[in-house]
Amino acid sequence: MTTTTSPAAKAAGGTADYLDQRTGLGAAVKGLSRKIFPDHWSFLLGEIALYSFIVILISGVFLTLFFVPSMAETDYEGPWAAMNGVEMSEAFASTLRLSFEVRGGLLMRQIHHWAALLFMASIVTHMMRVFFTGAFRKPRELNWLIGFTLMILGLAAGFSGYSLPDDVLSGNGLRITDGVVRSIPIIGSYLSYFIFGGEFPGQDLIPRLFIVHVLLVPAIILALVGLHLFLVFLQKHTQYPGGGRTNTNVVGFPLFPIYVAKAGGFFFIVFGVIALMAATMTINPVWNYGPYDPSPVGAGAQPDWYMLFLEGSLRLMPGQGTEWVIGGYTLSLNVLIPAVVVPGILFTALAAYPFIEQFVTGDKREHHVLDRPRNVPFRTATGVAILTAFFILVLAGSNDLIATQFDLSINDITWTFRVLFFVAPVLAFWITKRICLGLQRKDRELVLHGHETGRIVRFAHGEYIEVHRPLDDQERWLRVSQEPNRPLEIEPAEDSRGVRRKGYRKDVLRQRLSRIFFEDRVEPVTPAELAAAHSHGEHDALGSVHQTHGGANVPELDQAGTDGVPTVTAAGGGRRLAEPETPQQGPGADARNH
Ligand code: HEM
Repeated sequence: MTTTTSPAAKAAGGTADYLDQRTGLGAAVKGLSRKIFPDHWSFLLGEIALYSFIVILISGVFLTLFFVPSMAETDYEGPWAAMNGVEMSEAFASTLRLSFEVRGGLLMRQIHHWAALLFMASIVTHMMRVFFTGAFRKPRELNWLIGFTLMILGLAAGFSGYSLPDDVLSGNGLRITDGVVRSIPIIGSYLSYFIFGGEFPGQDLIPRLFIVHVLLVPAIILALVGLHLFLVFLQKHTQYPGGGRTNTNVVGFPLFPIYVAKAGGFFFIVFGVIALMAATMTINPVWNYGPYDPSPVGAGAQPDWYMLFLEGSLRLMPGQGTEWVIGGYTLSLNVLIPAVVVPGILFTALAAYPFIEQFVTGDKREHHVLDRPRNVPFRTATGVAILTAFFILVLAGSNDLIATQFDLSINDITWTFRVLFFVAPVLAFWITKRICLGLQRKDRELVLHGHETGRIVRFAHGEYIEVHRPLDDQERWLRVSQEPNRPLEIEPAEDSRGVRRKGYRKDVLRQRLSRIFFEDRVEPVTPAELAAAHSHGEHDALGSVHQTHGGANVPELDQAGTDGVPTVTAAGGGRRLAEPETPQQGPGADARNH
């Protein structure tokens, strides 16, 4: 047999050889390309964040070539007739030039803005995926903190960019920021003067924001994204529970060629979708708003979606009686609480969550297999409660639009949201927890009895019984492999000699907290229960079941399959009757089986 090598492959091989001989990187690249990554659609959310950031960088470089970061006044002369002769800053005039005179400028502006919105949306959904699946647990707490910092930097990048055109909306956003900064006791007014280079708006802010937006924040984001991905690589990616997946293996595909091809293709899909949105949907038409002027802002003015929660928080806070004058100094609680204290608490709790959970559960083990959200009801319910509060603030930030669109009283809407902000997260928490526990019970039921088929069979002695279809190996693995969560057990207060133990009070606190976390739970199916169901004739051939180091019950593994992926041998579940279930039944029977 002869082998032929194409000219392209030859050239690639020659180039690789040339580089390897000069850098010695061949071995490292080979190792990297063989690294196995697990597969799941939700892992694409982080990739979307990455790709939209790349699109932001490319389009941002283009915009930087034409944008003038100056607050110097000028009279507009250009093709947008509505603004002719209007006095505005150089920054606003250059944004108009970019939109109407630079070839492809408007498209680039819109690509940049849509990519920024997608960037923040993918960061938030990526963060939700990490939160709800417990991917932040040891050893990934550090990466959670890096990710959290990236999210804050994303907000900073978005807000500073939104403010650059110096239009009426962004100018008012800056005015609100000035108010928020000034509400900070003691240092507020000094801080405001420092940021704006004097009294708001001053002449310095746009050039300063420009440096923050095009240099400082992107450089830090770039460095942190590198570190973030390096840690994903170093710690290996978590995987969803499933047949053969354990804490010590990774089931997936190699980086090269599978993920390199997939990721390359996916980048162009993300770029394509952003370009399509930018080409067909107007975003931030500043030429309709006009240059910054504090007077014309009215109803319907909103920031980008990721800042809406802050806007909503400010709109919900009652003004009366919340501004105190103490010793000649004004304390503006009406701004301080909604814009600094509430987001401060929310963000600190979010950043610290992995450490809080670790303290409460006392769980110091490494986790490489993800949780199914239903199996950790307290965490899932907490996440849904936080999201509910966030969603209500977002809606509150649109209270004027809701009022005009649905012809409702803005006061009624505001009061409804005020009440909902406190009540809805509690309700959401309770409902989510109940749903999780219900789903866990359903899983138990399925493991022990199999799927209901709707087929009723009558025995010769007259008994009726419903035929249950056994779970397949994958289905069972998913439902029995979780680790049982129980409240912490602590040592007694006094040792054997009656001496009070140091650290007992802390342990009691942890135990109380862990009870809150785990008191409502559904125990996973134990081997004994599986065996009992089996011996009662409810299951067909049961595979052996053993206890893991963490106490979880997982079906035993066969040796690795041909592709290196272990296969599960446990079988059974469901009732076995004299007339076994076969997949080759008629179409009617099939329909009933599902
Ligand atoms: C610029 C923003 C971000 C980018 C570009 C980014 C990118 C990525 C990528 C590509 C992955 C691997 C694929 C995946 O699991 O989705 C990943 C994993 C991870 N990210 Fe992010 N991320 C960002 C922000 C965040 C945020 C805000 C958090 C949480 C606060 C976070 C926490 C994590 C963690 C803990 C992992 C490891 C997940 C695992 O192994 O299952 N990231 N990130």
